[in-house]
Amino acid sequence: VPSAPRHFVRAASSDAATAAAKKLLIKHVTIIGGGLMGAGIAQVAAASGHTVVLVDQSDEILKKSTKGIEESLKRVTKKKFADNPEAGAEFIKKTLKNLTTSTDAASVVHSTDLVIEAIVENLEVKNELFKRLDKFAPEYVRTIFASNTSSLQITKMANATTRQDRFGGLHFFNPVPMMKLVEVIKTPMTSQKTFESLVDFSKAVGKSPVSCKDTPGFIVNRLLVPYMMEAVRLYERGDASKEDIDVAMKLGAGYPMGPFELLDYVGLDTSKYIIDGWHSLEPNNPLFAPSPLLNKLVEEKKLGKKTGEGFYKYK
Ligand code: NAI
Repeated sequence: VPSAPRHFVRAASSDAATAAAKKLLIKHVTIIGGGLMGAGIAQVAAASGHTVVLVDQSDEILKKSTKGIEESLKRVTKKKFADNPEAGAEFIKKTLKNLTTSTDAASVVHSTDLVIEAIVENLEVKNELFKRLDKFAPEYVRTIFASNTSSLQITKMANATTRQDRFGGLHFFNPVPMMKLVEVIKTPMTSQKTFESLVDFSKAVGKSPVSCKDTPGFIVNRLLVPYMMEAVRLYERGDASKEDIDVAMKLGAGYPMGPFELLDYVGLDTSKYIIDGWHSLEPNNPLFAPSPLLNKLVEEKKLGKKTGEGFYKYK
């Protein structure tokens, strides 16, 4: 077999270089959903020099989101710029300048590099949104779509669009400004370039990305949710008190919170929603079995810290 002529090798490698250079550098970001997660993502993206449009259903909600971001920025800055409050004030001003809001996603999506969806955890609602945005962004073919979902399949959302190769998962953690991790999810259709752009973006906002396939719970929740459910089952059987289980995991395993404290923090409704979803996907998996006690607490609207009572009571 004759070896490839030199000029061909050179041409092929420079093609590879051009392809790598085409990896999309993300500068303009649209974040849909200005709740707990969306506001946090908007904050870290704007603080790291991206121009951000935060979208939600009403100006009232957006006002609340922006106020929350300002307060969070003040807290972060107080620590980070303790010796130089002037530089801190400048940092806040610059960050807020990068941030605008809108109630109309369709009108901003055409000029954006990356859309991050952080709306309600409901596949139909998310798919309806992505389908609509996909129509408004067709000429801007490079725009990448990403979902911050905790428990839904990224592939199912990608399939609601015509840009399966430019679709992935970007799973941030709560509270976003503090938690260092982002799980970058690659479906079988996500292109390598899209994946790399999402990894680069995660690094650019100061996070440490890890990658995972599109499997239930990705890495963190796939391990954490069954662990918390197993703690509930241990308590339901009467093997140990919830207080002792929490102390045990903090002092014996070095976890910063016990499983019941964590369940109350996450929200019992959210935890139930996740486990019920996985249970319907794999009814015979004992790790995904629902818990009668968790279901009862949710029915009684004892959802954790946010309602003042879950496994524990809060003032
Ligand atoms: P949230 O309830 O605090 O915020 C959702 C926001 O989306 C609300 O402000 C709502 O008005 C807005 N929204 C709903 N439908 C909309 C639409 N069609 N267009 C524009 N805005 C819309 O919810 P949260 O906790 O921020 O969760 C958002 C997503 O992030 C969910 O998919 C959730 O699974 C995921 N997630 C949540 C985490 C958490 O600890 N709360 C952690 C990681 C991911």
